Amino acid sequence: MERTVYVNGEFLPESEAKVSIFDRGFLFADAIYEVTAVVDGKLLDNDGHIARLARSCNELELTNPFTAESLTELQKEIARRNNLIEGGIYLQVTRGNAGDRDFAYPAEDVPPTVVMFTQSRSVVETPKAEKGVKVISIPDIRWHRRDIKTTQLLSACMAKQAAIKAGASDTWLIEDGYVTEGSSNNVYIVTKEGKVVTRPLSNDILHGITRAALLKMASDANIEIEERLFTIEEAYDAEEAFLSSASTFVWPVVQIDDKTIGSGKPGPVAKKLREIYLEIAKSTGISI
Ligand code: PDD
Repeated sequence: MERTVYVNGEFLPESEAKVSIFDRGFLFADAIYEVTAVVDGKLLDNDGHIARLARSCNELELTNPFTAESLTELQKEIARRNNLIEGGIYLQVTRGNAGDRDFAYPAEDVPPTVVMFTQSRSVVETPKAEKGVKVISIPDIRWHRRDIKTTQLLSACMAKQAAIKAGASDTWLIEDGYVTEGSSNNVYIVTKEGKVVTRPLSNDILHGITRAALLKMASDANIEIEERLFTIEEAYDAEEAFLSSASTFVWPVVQIDDKTIGSGKPGPVAKKLREIYLEIAKSTGISI
C-alpha cells in the first residue's frame, strides 16, 4: 500500500512526491533530519526531537520552518493519515532549491524543503532487543560536527555495510583510541561495579534524545552513571554493553569484535533500562 508522505505543505501519495535535482539536500547533504519513534499510537520523546531540530537549524543558519506546535500537528497528521501505530516518523529539512549548484548558501528568500514520511515496523518486540546484537569496531571517519543531525550519512552507511559483511548488526566507532558512538546510536558499557559508562556530550557525538532520557531514568533508578571516555578494550571487559536510539530504544550488545561481553546474554541493566524507557516514554508520549 502506498504511503501518504508530506512535501512542502502538501500530503501526497509517495509515488507523486517530488524534490528538485537542484535541492541542496540532494546536491550537498545540506540538510538536517529527525526520527521520532511511535509506539501504541504515541509520539515518544518528541519535545526533545523538536528541540534538537531547532538546534541543528541554528548551528547551520538554516531557517527552521516550524514552531514546536506546528511540527507536532504535522507529525500527528501524517501518522493519522498512514494509520501509524508503531514505527517512526522521519522528517528532513534542507536548505532548499536555489536553481543551480553553488556551494555558497543561497539568498534568504529560498525557502527550505521539508519532507516527512512514516515507517511502520515493530520496534518494541524485536529479536535484537531480546537476544542482543553483535557489533564490530572500526575507525570513526566522520566530520567534526557530529552534534548536528545532518543527512551527511555516507560514512554511517559504510559502517553499517562493514558490520553486515562481518555478520554483525552495527559498528562502534573509534577515534584517538576511544569509542565515540555507534553508526546511528549512542553506546554504553556497564562496569563490574554496575556503573553505566558513556561518552560525555561534545561535538564528537550526536546528543541522543534517547540517551538524555535514559541517563535521567537510570539516575532516578539509583543506577550510577559515569560520563567519560572509554576504550574498546575496556568495553571488551565490561559486564554489559548496550546502545540506544529512537529506532532501537535500548539494544543489549552481547559481542564486540570477537569478544563475548559478560555472559553473552542481554544483561540486567540493559534489560531494566529498556523496560523503564518504554514504560515512561509511552506514559508521557503524545497521542496521535
Ligand atoms: N539515529 N548517534 C547517531 C550517530 C545517530 O544517528 C543517532 C540516531 C543517535 C541516537 O539519537 P536519538 O536517541 O536521538 O535517536 C546517536 C537515528 C535514529 C537515525 O539516523 O535513524
